[in-house]
Amino acid sequence: MGLAIMSKASNVVILGAQWGDEGKGKVVDLFSEHFDVVARYQGGHNAGHTVHIGDRKFVLKLIPSGILRGKKAVIGNGLVVDPAALLDEIRMLEAAGLQVEGNLFISNRAQVLLPSHRLMEKLGEARPGRVSIGTTSRGIGPCYEDKIARRGMRIGDLLDREVFEPLFDTLVAEHRAAARALGVDDGLDPASIRAEYEKLAERIRPMVCDTARLLHDAIAAGQSVMFEGAQGTMLDIDHGTYPFVTSSSASAGGACTGTGVPPTRINSVIGVSKAYITRVGGGPFPTEALDSWGGQIRNRGNEFGSVTGRPRRCGWFDVPLMRYAAMINGFDSLVVTKLDVLDEMEKIPVCVAYRSGGQDVTDMPATVKGMAALEPVYECLPGWQSSTFGISSYNELPPHARDYLDFLEKQSGVEVGCISTGPERNQTIVKPNSHFARLFT
Ligand code: GDP
Ligand code: IMO
Ligand code: MG
Repeated sequence: MGLAIMSKASNVVILGAQWGDEGKGKVVDLFSEHFDVVARYQGGHNAGHTVHIGDRKFVLKLIPSGILRGKKAVIGNGLVVDPAALLDEIRMLEAAGLQVEGNLFISNRAQVLLPSHRLMEKLGEARPGRVSIGTTSRGIGPCYEDKIARRGMRIGDLLDREVFEPLFDTLVAEHRAAARALGVDDGLDPASIRAEYEKLAERIRPMVCDTARLLHDAIAAGQSVMFEGAQGTMLDIDHGTYPFVTSSSASAGGACTGTGVPPTRINSVIGVSKAYITRVGGGPFPTEALDSWGGQIRNRGNEFGSVTGRPRRCGWFDVPLMRYAAMINGFDSLVVTKLDVLDEMEKIPVCVAYRSGGQDVTDMPATVKGMAALEPVYECLPGWQSSTFGISSYNELPPHARDYLDFLEKQSGVEVGCISTGPERNQTIVKPNSHFARLFT
């Protein structure tokens, strides 16, 4: 592909423009080559970022994908960290021959996720009358609940036994009392969990630091930082399809609150989107293809969750949703992934507008009722019906594929600067003369 090293230090956020699984892992891995540090700013092990390197496949959940290139990898204060899940991931990377210690830095302000958070989530999701979100069942939501309620525990607390023990005992007792009130015998053994967490604390201790300080020092020394989003804009706690969202700030603003790096130090925001769209779990989905096309995309795109294995719901590219995501995040450029998945289609519908009750809808509805009432207006574009798999030069794309990308760009108002045509690093096109190309050359 011949991408040259970035000429000047630049701090860039790369995040999902849709409902997650847009291919962020591949994109971050590929372009992290140009950065000194890669930092995650929100979420937890609900994320599943897949990276293919030759015949090796990695699914990263908590650790930023930059670790695969030997970059400094930061788990920012905005994350919720299950230490057992983190150590599993560290072991997986070490078994693959990668150097983790010395490259991974965990914020002393990140929240600690406990097994009783998973219990709370299970009870909440099953509660009569409560909307089931279809979560990843990792305990993410309840851990963020405890953070916001100011009764949570931070990594810094976990490392100090005197502080940790009473905090742990009180929090777990509260979770168990809530379970008992619902008539559930949780079967948890707090003493053994506490002892296990004390052991885990010693394993992660050497990697814990003030990561806001680390990032500031790196930036002050002229180093560049890539911020890796998890989930996607429409799963953002504030800007997504609430309540069918995750419990953190997945959009660009989260990069600041979730790392302690101020907005004045962020130079660019890049969105990642599929050439179509998917979502896992419940919630409104205006362009969902409930006919056989949905199944065909799922099979061709292998659209099954990388964390839970659930089939992903599939649908057509949604321009109003992209315009909304561009507005919320201020995208400078868009990476469109999985173009190859559409190779066989004769016609490709694209949603260009929403209507509701016979009226045009210009703003994204704030309620589920409003979202559910949306009627997508489609324009059908001709398919290219030839293989784009692995193409790495823009000019080699079939004319109808280029027309499709031009259409998405014009309609969305965001340049399509990069296109992915397969899961591997070299199956990528950087569009010549784009903002994206300038950023990475
Ligand atoms: P993330 O959560 O945004 O990192 O995305 P996931 O890893 O959950 O899902 C994206 C899936 O698509 C992974 O299996 C990737 O290997 C795969 N993938 C990424 N880009 C492409 C592409 O351009 N074409 C194809 N066919 N697969 C891709
Ligand atoms: P990556 O980073 C896709 C979805 C879940 C559910 C909702 C809330 O791989 O793109 P949670 O467990 O977070 O409380 O679940 O959010 N969800 C994701 N969907 N990709 C993800 O991460 C997701 N992380 C959470 O399916 O609908
Ligand atoms: Mg994923």
